[in-house]
Amino acid sequence: MSQSSTPAANGPRDILITSALPYANGPIHIGHLVEYIQTDIWSRFQKMRGHNCWYVCADDAHGTPIMLKARQEGITPEELIARVAAEHQADFAEFRVGFDNYHSTHSDENRYFATLIYARNRDKGHIAKRTIEQAFDPVEQMFLPDRFIKGECPKCGAADQYGDNCEVCGASYSPAELKNPRSAVSGAVPEQRESDHYFFKLGDFEQMLKTWTRGGSLQREVANKLDEWFDAGLQEWDISRDAPYFGFEIPDHPGKFFYVWLDAPIGYLASFKNLCDSERGKAEGLDFDRFWAPDSDAEVYHFIGKDIIYFHALFFPAMLHGADFRTPSAIFAHGFLTVDGQKMSKSRGTFIKARTYLDHLNPEYLRYYFAAKLGPGVDDIDLSLDDFQARVNADLVGKVVNIASRSAGFVTKRFEGRLSAALPEPALFDAFVAAGESIAGAYEKREFSRAVREIMAFADRANQYIDEKAPWVVAKQEGRDDELQAICTQGLNLFRLLIGWLKPILPGTAEAAEDFLRIPPLTWDTLASPLLDHEIAKFKPLMTRVDPKQIEAVLEASKEDLTAADAKKTRPHETKTEGHLVKDPIADTIDFDAFAKVDLRIARIVEAGPVEGADKLLQLTLDLGGETRNVFAGISKAYDPKDLEGRLTVMVANLAPRKMRFGVSEGMVLAAGPGGKDIFILSPDDGAEPGMKVK
Ligand code: MSP
Ligand code: ZN
Repeated sequence: MSQSSTPAANGPRDILITSALPYANGPIHIGHLVEYIQTDIWSRFQKMRGHNCWYVCADDAHGTPIMLKARQEGITPEELIARVAAEHQADFAEFRVGFDNYHSTHSDENRYFATLIYARNRDKGHIAKRTIEQAFDPVEQMFLPDRFIKGECPKCGAADQYGDNCEVCGASYSPAELKNPRSAVSGAVPEQRESDHYFFKLGDFEQMLKTWTRGGSLQREVANKLDEWFDAGLQEWDISRDAPYFGFEIPDHPGKFFYVWLDAPIGYLASFKNLCDSERGKAEGLDFDRFWAPDSDAEVYHFIGKDIIYFHALFFPAMLHGADFRTPSAIFAHGFLTVDGQKMSKSRGTFIKARTYLDHLNPEYLRYYFAAKLGPGVDDIDLSLDDFQARVNADLVGKVVNIASRSAGFVTKRFEGRLSAALPEPALFDAFVAAGESIAGAYEKREFSRAVREIMAFADRANQYIDEKAPWVVAKQEGRDDELQAICTQGLNLFRLLIGWLKPILPGTAEAAEDFLRIPPLTWDTLASPLLDHEIAKFKPLMTRVDPKQIEAVLEASKEDLTAADAKKTRPHETKTEGHLVKDPIADTIDFDAFAKVDLRIARIVEAGPVEGADKLLQLTLDLGGETRNVFAGISKAYDPKDLEGRLTVMVANLAPRKMRFGVSEGMVLAAGPGGKDIFILSPDDGAEPGMKVK
């Protein structure tokens, strides 16, 4: 691997690190955490080494899924993204992901940079305009992204498949090929409509990208992938979307918005700019151009998942280059998380939200486990729950923390917390210190699993030392006090090295250890000199064992999350992450409790009429036995309004009111059929009375 991240000189390096920006329409889950934990370990390591390192991130707040999710919840997109941003940041804080700044792509800074980068590329002729045909939802009056069109798979005929690929037979196709296509938003039959779109001419950057790709900025696997893409030819990239869209309007094209993936990576610059302009940034003299000017020799690294390489290794550097910004020093891609060898699954309870994990387990465990599994490549990493428990208990509790607990008690009880003035075995301490550079080298190259392996080998040596010296035996013998104190001093100094090396991985435990040892925050340099003739605090257990019951509880709670989520779910959420999941058949059924919540009532249609501007809708006035409801139903092709008046039907009476372009819909009438003329409303026989509950 030819990753160039060695310091140019011996002085401190200027390093800017980012993680991918999580979408603001869903919670952080343990798959995401692979990335944020990996990045955070690297960032903390660089800081411990004394470098000027900045770690920034933000919520990715734009796009159709976020717009629709807000609409579905009856709130504004701004309200939704504010709520999710708070949730994300609370989760990250508890996992001790130590961002120096967390911002949003829906921000002034991001509008500024997105506009600037677009305009500079446009002025150099890198933007083209073309008219394209796209699926359009006539009811919602909006163009539909592929993920929001459903229909029957053209290959195998499976029902209810998304517009880009079939989750039953695995075929991929274009939405136009779907049979009986429907908008997943309104259920309407999509029409094909034309619209002007703006394209980024990626092909203009082929030479520049090839040079950049081969300049050591990419992992070997990633560079190979890029070569395939070069061979296939670089396509123009559609960077615009039509209103309604939650994003930034393109300044010279009213009604057109930047596609979310245009402004998302620019969010890295925006978050960093926001940091530069903050009190802290100003106090530290943080200079935006120092990092982003075209000739900058500061280091910029983007940690990402392997699913978003195309955006980060092609579009983003090309756009930056076209706009006279520097390109990233490197992209670090990682693989996907599996749990017990399988993709995270809602029905198995292994689709675990960060919050659910935190309710039951110590975040340091997961940080350690991921570190023990992470390498520099793009291989997927597996969380084996048995192995998780075994390793955390054996390594962290059994080896590392144990050294401290075996030494500290005597120091407190017999020597008033005081360490000896000299080490009995300085050579052993020096042998540990000497290993520090190899461990640092492993961290630097993101070979975290090697770092952990080496550290644990030294934890074994430290325990072996204590076993051989048997302080508990020495303690019982007269006149061996100095020896006892020296053994414990040696033990605690070895522990201090171990916890210092582990600090990027276990920041919480290291902090507790620093309190216990009464020392300032450990840095890599300070590790080399031992702690002598120094008073420590009383030992408190730094970590407890993982109890299998806690893991059980997480799985159980994750299954409960599923039931709750299904009861709420009325539309697909386009999260790319979910696109990676095996679609569990069970995840698509609802349980009886969810069904029982649906309040079905007999209603009389007292009035029915057309809706101006929506040729599929009828506006119905329903009598629920005293109460009147206004409901919009997509049945105008099937019924003449006059024929409906006076008839009985069944409605969902407790559906949350939904604001549509034409007014508020206060429920839903039950109807079934393939669509168009063939939709049949449920029409109970007379004898039923409006307001009756349907059993
Ligand atoms: N919003 C985009 C990123 C924009 S970056 C300018 C996005 N968001 S995401 O929420 O879907 O994912 C955020 C990061 O988490 C991505 O790097 C993604 O690869 C990573 N992961 C999401 N699920 C994951 C797993 N199951 N396993 C490992 N990483 C995962 O993509
Ligand atoms: Zn199929």
